[in-house]
Amino acid sequence: MPNSLAAPQTIRRGDYRPPAWMVPETRLDFDLDPAATRVHATLTVTRNGADAGPLRLDGAGQAVQAVRVDGVAVDDWALEGETLIVPLAGDAHVVETEVTIAPDRNTQLMGLYASGGILCTQCEAEGFRRITYFPDRPDVLSRYSVRMTADRARYPVLLSNGDPVASGVQDDGRHWAEWNDPFPKPSYLFALVAGELAVNRGSFTTQSGRAVELGIWVRATDLPRTDHALHALKLSMAWDERVYGREYDLDVFNIVAVDDFNFGAMENKGLNIFNSRYILADPDTATDYDYDAIAAVVAHEYFHNWTGNRITCRDWFQLSLKEGFTVYRDQSFSADQGSAAVKRIEDVRGLRASQFPEDAGPLAHPVRPEAYQEINNFYTATIYNKGAELIRMMATILGPTDFRAATDLYFREFDGTAATCEDFVRCMERASGRDLSRFRLWYSQAGTPRLSASLLHSAGGGRATLRLAQHVPATPGQPIKAPMVLPLKLRLFGAETGRPLTEERLVLLDEADETLVFEAVTERPVLSINRGFSAPVVVESDRSAADLAFLSAQDDDPFARYEAMQQLMLDTLVAATISGEDRHQAVVDAVANTLDDPELDRAFVAEAVLLPSEAFVGDQLAEVDPEAIHQAREALRRALGGALHDRWAHLYAANAQGGYVYSPEAKGKRRLRNVALGYLAASGAPEVGALAWRQFEAADNMTDRQAALNTLANGDFAERPAALDAFYRRYAGNSLVIDKWFQTQALSTRDDAADAVVALARHPDFTLANPNRARALVGAFGVNQRAFNRADGAGYRFLADQLLQLDRLNPQTAAKLLPPLGRWRRFDAPRAALMRAELERIVAQPGLSKDLFEQASKSLA
Ligand code: PHE
Ligand code: ZN
Repeated sequence: MPNSLAAPQTIRRGDYRPPAWMVPETRLDFDLDPAATRVHATLTVTRNGADAGPLRLDGAGQAVQAVRVDGVAVDDWALEGETLIVPLAGDAHVVETEVTIAPDRNTQLMGLYASGGILCTQCEAEGFRRITYFPDRPDVLSRYSVRMTADRARYPVLLSNGDPVASGVQDDGRHWAEWNDPFPKPSYLFALVAGELAVNRGSFTTQSGRAVELGIWVRATDLPRTDHALHALKLSMAWDERVYGREYDLDVFNIVAVDDFNFGAMENKGLNIFNSRYILADPDTATDYDYDAIAAVVAHEYFHNWTGNRITCRDWFQLSLKEGFTVYRDQSFSADQGSAAVKRIEDVRGLRASQFPEDAGPLAHPVRPEAYQEINNFYTATIYNKGAELIRMMATILGPTDFRAATDLYFREFDGTAATCEDFVRCMERASGRDLSRFRLWYSQAGTPRLSASLLHSAGGGRATLRLAQHVPATPGQPIKAPMVLPLKLRLFGAETGRPLTEERLVLLDEADETLVFEAVTERPVLSINRGFSAPVVVESDRSAADLAFLSAQDDDPFARYEAMQQLMLDTLVAATISGEDRHQAVVDAVANTLDDPELDRAFVAEAVLLPSEAFVGDQLAEVDPEAIHQAREALRRALGGALHDRWAHLYAANAQGGYVYSPEAKGKRRLRNVALGYLAASGAPEVGALAWRQFEAADNMTDRQAALNTLANGDFAERPAALDAFYRRYAGNSLVIDKWFQTQALSTRDDAADAVVALARHPDFTLANPNRARALVGAFGVNQRAFNRADGAGYRFLADQLLQLDRLNPQTAAKLLPPLGRWRRFDAPRAALMRAELERIVAQPGLSKDLFEQASKSLA
């Protein structure tokens, strides 16, 4: 690991050069052993272009044992840092290297590592170089054949990319297997797994009649919890054929679940490797949210086979080419499985919770970044979720027919290549005949555009004028911005009749400001804008509480309806925070209205009546006052709970269900019932402790049990300690559920939350070595706005202490948890000083990783 004193190197997009050598064929021979694995690599290399330079192979952390060129041992190689330089006279050679690595000491979980006795790999972005020497960049595509030898008892299952070709048993207790992947791929898609695994098998026949053998590989005891993932995989395969015309291309598709994983999952060709939390589910241990997330991640990784693997990225600056598009695809898939409106609401809530703050803070970067120190730090909400919004906007602008023609063109033209975001946009243009030059700013400009919209109506003349103006705030390195293309769906409604006055219109705002005129507007119009969240912007409008309440009841676009309610709640909470003003009644009436509408989907109602988070309220303020926000929000919750008590009680009773079913309707009922429970608790009604306890004990599913636990854990109920204790004991040994136990307490709204978290870090089950556990406690605490920002700085100190410890094990995961400390500009001077002091302490740490150094130093700047 580099010392922070040696400034890490900055990689720039403009410095891209094509590779000097290609590697059409790669043979890997692994002699697997947790303490010392020998890797013998045979690379067929060919010179690319006129450059007469030597072969340069990336490496990290391993020692060279031998180098051979065309079968002959050589010793004229050299190391430049960790790069292996091999002088080569001609244009085509066979280069062999041998190295030894130690998977059981790999705590970074990059390269070849051990997770609970299973050996597995993670190569994206630059993990392959920790396995063997290689041009570890995504534009070097190679055909891989892999041989693995391992102890047969400890590692009975040996998997790699592509198709199995041969296997055998040796007489020394070891066995071997060979796998061949016919598709050329970049090194980041390489994968290998060895372990004692059981399989849930399935099959899928593609549209052209190819039979694909599916396998979900897990520990034997987890096998009963793999059906949902397998089902989701089949649905994904069929969906991609139907919606994008994309068919699977190998005879096998395997998924392996491991407990220690830095991200959600990885799309390695034909051998996806998953964080077990995105595979394992049964009603007793997984919530509806978990079930949905599993289906979404299974789909996401499967969809990468075309958007990522068949067409990969030229360089890591193009990361959103595969991630933005694939997130858009998995969002569309999930929307098709249930309520599209609720899915859109959830996705926008997620965008506002993570991407908007990122875009407004010190780590803001464009969807196609210009520079990085550590690529691991760029697997962000901006690349993934804002990237998905860019694809969605292009789909909106083109319309479904042209968009499909454009993706067909993209797949046809770029299959088998390493492409750029520009290639993708050009396909959108060519297939539609549209000019997207201005639209491209979405790739290069960071920051969330702010749109102001004000509607004037001259009652006499029947004319309405809508003035739209946009402004993109400055972000680090980008002080001045140009106006962007905002696709805005809008519609006017009549305030008196409640009827639509216009059709829905798609307006492409591409100037700093623009005025639209509507004629024959005979009654006072109310503006419904950014319907469906057609552009990922912040809308500032002068709509009154009455107009927002009207839209929350009348708008025909469900997202706009939800949005109007959110805006009404937000305005109320902001006013209460700033001036203590009590405007509760307008919210109470609007919520009552929504609850009383029998036409509405239960899941939608549940979403619509939830208050915006404390953090989102904070994002609206010039300076975040976490305590005042908390008090304001709790007061509104109490008011809603008390004033509508009988409705909540009725909903609670009416949405009880007989036996557990996983279906959109059943999920909607559970969600609404649990929201009702939360409001009953907020009302302070005396029966709630007993009610929640009964639900906790009687629940036949984790959604209801965890909701009851949350209610009890957030309050002062007599049942609280017993519930936490019972939950812990019931699920002891199931680490995914114990993560929930930690997370519930880390997200607590109680006054003692920060102290509780500090104490939990000393719990025997707490470990930073497992990323899920670290995220469950430390990550969740970082987003608990009130507890984390406790005025004495205890939260900041705790986070910095944890990050410094975690950095020594797993820099990538440590760096991911840093952003809450970088929000110091948003707080009062005393808090800002405390946060800065912790960031300075981190930056000054000797031996800091470049991951954490980049994030902490940028956060201080
Ligand atoms: N490419 C993975 C995905 O989006 C994410 C990932 C990145 C996983 C880096 C591991 C390491 O699905
Ligand atoms: Zn992805």
